[in-house]
Order: sequence, then C-alpha cells, then structure tokens
Amino acid sequence: MSRQKQPLDLTDVSIPTHVAIIMDGNGRWARKRGLPRQAGHRAGVENLRRVIDACVEFGIKILTIYAFSTENWGRPESEVRGLMRIFRRVLDQELDELHAQGVCLHHLGDLSGVATDLQKKVLHALDLTKDNDRLILNVAFNYGGRAEILHAVQKMLADDISPDELTEELFSSYLFTHGLPDPDLVIRTSGELRVSNFLIWQAAYAEFYGAPEYWPDFGREELYDALKAYNRRERRYGLLSEP
Ligand code: IPE
Ligand code: IPE
Ligand code: MG
Repeated sequence: MSRQKQPLDLTDVSIPTHVAIIMDGNGRWARKRGLPRQAGHRAGVENLRRVIDACVEFGIKILTIYAFSTENWGRPESEVRGLMRIFRRVLDQELDELHAQGVCLHHLGDLSGVATDLQKKVLHALDLTKDNDRLILNVAFNYGGRAEILHAVQKMLADDISPDELTEELFSSYLFTHGLPDPDLVIRTSGELRVSNFLIWQAAYAEFYGAPEYWPDFGREELYDALKAYNRRERRYGLLSEP
C-alpha cells in the first residue's frame, strides 16, 4: 500500500548510479484481492510511475526494469496479449510525460520478436527521448540474459573479432547495455530470491536486495529502504575489507 509522502533523510546515503529492478508479484497482488492477473499488471504499471518519480527525487541516474522476459512468452496467450496491450497503452499515454520529465528511454532485448506496431512505438519513444539526461530508463522487454549473450557472440563472430582481441570490455560493448555502467543494486520484489535470467553478465558484482512487497506495493519508501540497505553493504569485489 502506498503511504503518505513524507520527507526522507538522504544525508549520508550514498546513491547507487544504476539500480535494476525485477518487478515481480503482480499476479499474486491481484490474486490476494480476488482480481484477475491483468489488474495486477495494470497496478504494476501505475506503480512504475511512482518509482520513476522516486528515482528522479533520489538522484538515481540509471534505472533498469525487467518488464517482459524471453520466457514470459510461455504464459497463457490471453495474459501475453493483455501485457502487450498494456505496453502499447503505456507508450501512448505516458511517453510525453516521461519526455517532459527528462527520461531517456533505452530498450534491452530483441524487438524483432515483437508485433510491428509495437516495434514502431518503441522506436519512436527511443528516438524522441534520446537526448534527455535526467534519468536513463532501460526497459528490458523481450529480454533474456542468455539470449543477450548469444546475440553478442553472434555479432562478434560476424565482426570477425579474433580470440586475442576479446576482453571483458569488448564483450560488454556488444551487450544491450553497451556504454552504461553495470548495475550497483538489483532489487527483486515479491520475496522471490532468483535472478530469472536478468542481467546475468552485468550483475556479476551487483548487490542483491529482496523486497517482500509485491511490485504494485513497492513505492518510494520501500525504494528508500533498499537504498539504506545498500548503504550498509560492503562491496569487496573479491578483495579484503579496508583495515
Ligand atoms: C511480474 O509479475 C510481471 C511479469 C513477469 C510480466 P508476475 O506476473 O510474475 O506476478 P506473479 O509472480 O505471478 O505474482
Ligand atoms: C521475472 O519474473 C520476469 C519479469 C519480472 C519480467 P517471472 O515471474 O517471470 O520469473 P519466475 O518465473 O518467477 O522465475
Ligand atoms: Mg512472477
């Protein structure tokens, strides 16, 4: 449930540059209320607006959201159709406001697997917002981490990259997230503690945070709690603690 907006103390809270969220639990949120799953997805999209506003407020520069995975095509056709309907509607209704807010949209995933009219809407949104710099919003849509890695390897082979040229930096430059820093914090809502094929290369050293709330209930204060938890972590990258 969203609570009253209250001042949150950000002094001494170091803000991660890149936060990634696995927005999970829409279906269970709806079931708990005796509603159809689609109502949960609609509530999830409404919540996204709140979380984007909170990211801007907190000074997060990059937000990556997992909207639809390569595996999600395997859900019942009616649910997939409902989700595509929501994505179309969001692009129609929210784009101008996102643009006005200074959000720069990026897409992670394979657009060729998506209906042509939806592809066009996405390409238009990317083009419209490309020069914005307040918040980069990466939308992982028809995205899978393994598919992304295969896609990168295919492109490298097509470019005749030789084995001795290949470095981690070069490999990263072939991923959908090329040019962006790796996520510092990956949040998964709904209490599940799984990666589910999300950013499996990029999140190698991300801090992982599991939030108990279903995604439609994960708002500004819950994001603040995640940031506070992140601040209590010590990122060691395989090294030893500072003495
Ligand atoms: C996340 O919520 C949204 C998508 C995967 C598209 P779910 O639909 O996975 O909700 P649960 O996990 O069934 O509750
Ligand atoms: C991950 O959630 C995908 C998205 C949030 C888009 P899922 O609900 O599809 O993942 P699993 O099935 O619980 O692993
Ligand atoms: Mg789920």
